[in-house]
Amino acid sequence: MPIIAPSLLSANFLNLRSDCDMLNASEADWYHLDVMDGRFVPNISFGPMLVEFFRKATHKTCDVHLMIEEPEKYAEAFKKAGADILTVHVEACRHLHRNIQQIKGLGMKAGVALNPHTPVNSLADILADIDLVCMMSVNPGFGGQTFIPQTINKIRELKAMIMQGGHQVLIEIDGGVTLANAASIIEAGADVLVAGNTVFKSSNPTETITALKNISR
Ligand code: DX5
Ligand code: ZN
Repeated sequence: MPIIAPSLLSANFLNLRSDCDMLNASEADWYHLDVMDGRFVPNISFGPMLVEFFRKATHKTCDVHLMIEEPEKYAEAFKKAGADILTVHVEACRHLHRNIQQIKGLGMKAGVALNPHTPVNSLADILADIDLVCMMSVNPGFGGQTFIPQTINKIRELKAMIMQGGHQVLIEIDGGVTLANAASIIEAGADVLVAGNTVFKSSNPTETITALKNISR
């Protein structure tokens, strides 16, 4: 079964308590928390303060996706806020290996995110050191965009690299995941589905999470 990670970016921020209660009672596995700085991506979302509130609202894994420049400046703050997984973008890290060591040294799981244009083989020499690849299937910055079809080939390629190297790395797909395309995403090799609009804009988010959870390879 896939890991389901609803993206709180699409939640109702005037009603976060009830959205958290809904997620906590649902089959959702993780909270996917999208941090944007207005520099790496053309949007600003939230920072460690809100992550800390989410941490207090759930026992589920807090999966923090940093879409920010200079993530090394904030890794400790996100650890203090309660992040379990901290993901940085390969495009934002000049010293990716050092960034990953920092995250792991702080006691978090380390993820690396890839923009749609970034080739999978740019991860070849870091796969042994990380826990998760967050493959962007839209350009990062906004919820509710359309899935980029080429992602399917990239998932297959990454899955083959992981299997070949015997690495323990989860493949997370982020952006434009729907009930219509989830099966092909999982079939290609994904382990984690992020879903923002598909969950929070549906008429019954709890049932939508269950439906995503029950999609099989
Ligand atoms: C996009 C974020 C995503 C986004 C997904 O930059 O990283 O996590 O919230 O939202 P949907 O599922 O609506 O595309
Ligand atoms: Zn994300």
